[in-house]
Amino acid sequence: MNLNRAIEQTLQSWKRAGLLDVSGCSGVSLLERLVQRTSSVTVPSLPEAAGISETVTTTLSEKEETNEVHEDSAGETDMNLKERKTRLLELSEQVAACKKCAGLAAGRTQTVFGVGNPRAKVMFIGEAPGADEDKQGEPFVGRAGKLLNTIIEACGWTREELYICNILRCRPDGNRNPTPIEAANCREFLDGQIEAVNPKYIVCWGTIAAQNLLNESTPIGRMRGKFYKYGRAKVLCTYHPSYLLRNPPAKKFVWEDLKILLREMGVDPDKIVKKKSDS
Ligand code: URA
Repeated sequence: MNLNRAIEQTLQSWKRAGLLDVSGCSGVSLLERLVQRTSSVTVPSLPEAAGISETVTTTLSEKEETNEVHEDSAGETDMNLKERKTRLLELSEQVAACKKCAGLAAGRTQTVFGVGNPRAKVMFIGEAPGADEDKQGEPFVGRAGKLLNTIIEACGWTREELYICNILRCRPDGNRNPTPIEAANCREFLDGQIEAVNPKYIVCWGTIAAQNLLNESTPIGRMRGKFYKYGRAKVLCTYHPSYLLRNPPAKKFVWEDLKILLREMGVDPDKIVKKKSDS
């Protein structure tokens, strides 16, 4: 693979993992800029594809390099920002190399790790990448993602302050449901992301996310509207945006569910100030 392209792809994957701001840059020039601006934080080496074995450094600001912990620290297991980023980077590299599901690995354009704020209070978990996500390497960027963006905005959030991932990190062919074996194979990565981000709240979008995360077989219609617990996180399950595209009247149930979450977070749903996401 062309070196410039390999570096670019790797850095873009770090960006998608929420680890780096590389907007509007490319390949080697980006690497040069990064090295010029670097702090002393060492991150794992670029993958073999880039043909580079030495370590490079990333651009954490001074503030980010402090040992500041999550404002909602659950205690001694909580990681500081630098540790979260390092852990997410490690996981994203493991995911990129993963071939546990041979069929998925053979059919993917790329893996779709997850994006967002390593210190997000709220984590979203969807089902699996679709065709658009497989192409772009980012969760929820297709039609369902556009609807999700509208929902995010209605809640007064931006994509950048959330953390968004899926049960699977590869696209199942023909958009079929993930098999239990595929979900089990991907579980260590999901749990790794949850542990690193340590969100206070998790929203499971749809049956696959809800049933897999919580090891439940209850239909989503009976799981929605109340909190479950996963580790320290309060988990709210609701309908998937793709279901809402097929069945728009169900949007009112999703809004009811999200109002429960917002109130739990101390936000009055009638006084939401909307913000714009970058994407
Ligand atoms: N549906 C999902 O569940 N996840 C995505 O990333 C895209 C569509």
